[in-house]
Amino acid sequence: MALRTIRILGDPVLEKICRPVAELTPRLRTLIGDMFETMYEAAGVGLAAPQVGVLRRIVVIDCGIEEKQPYVFINPEILETEGNQTGDEGCLSYPGKCGTVTRPEKVKVRALDINMEPFELEAEGLLARAVCHECDHLDGKMYVSLVEGEIRDAVYEEEEEEETEE
Ligand code: NI
Repeated sequence: MALRTIRILGDPVLEKICRPVAELTPRLRTLIGDMFETMYEAAGVGLAAPQVGVLRRIVVIDCGIEEKQPYVFINPEILETEGNQTGDEGCLSYPGKCGTVTRPEKVKVRALDINMEPFELEAEGLLARAVCHECDHLDGKMYVSLVEGEIRDAVYEEEEEEETEE
């Protein structure tokens, strides 16, 4: 596995519609492994293939809150949504920034897994938010277009603690 370069907001690859995966070739399997490594290295909870410059409908997510994670979603489709949640969102393609976005509280998603077997998942809370955010990437959409109010500098707990110590 290898780290891949994360594309940053303004890169045209982030605005393109991704193509479905018909066959999981060795090259795409390697991509998925690399996507996980890249996501964990960057301390993200999700990553979509276009964020590493590959225009295929592949998403990886690990919110670290459920035993079944991490998830690979190939050709994901959101089938149903329910309710809504409003909260802060960020993106590895726009580092150091965050903004308030309203998303469904629950989603039902259908996708293919790493064996190209179909599965359905009902997600809520952070996982539902991540599914929506990453699926948007596959259609060339960044969360910044959904932000309510200002896009802000993300403040991390570590930095807050350092400031308190000073
Ligand atoms: Ni993102």
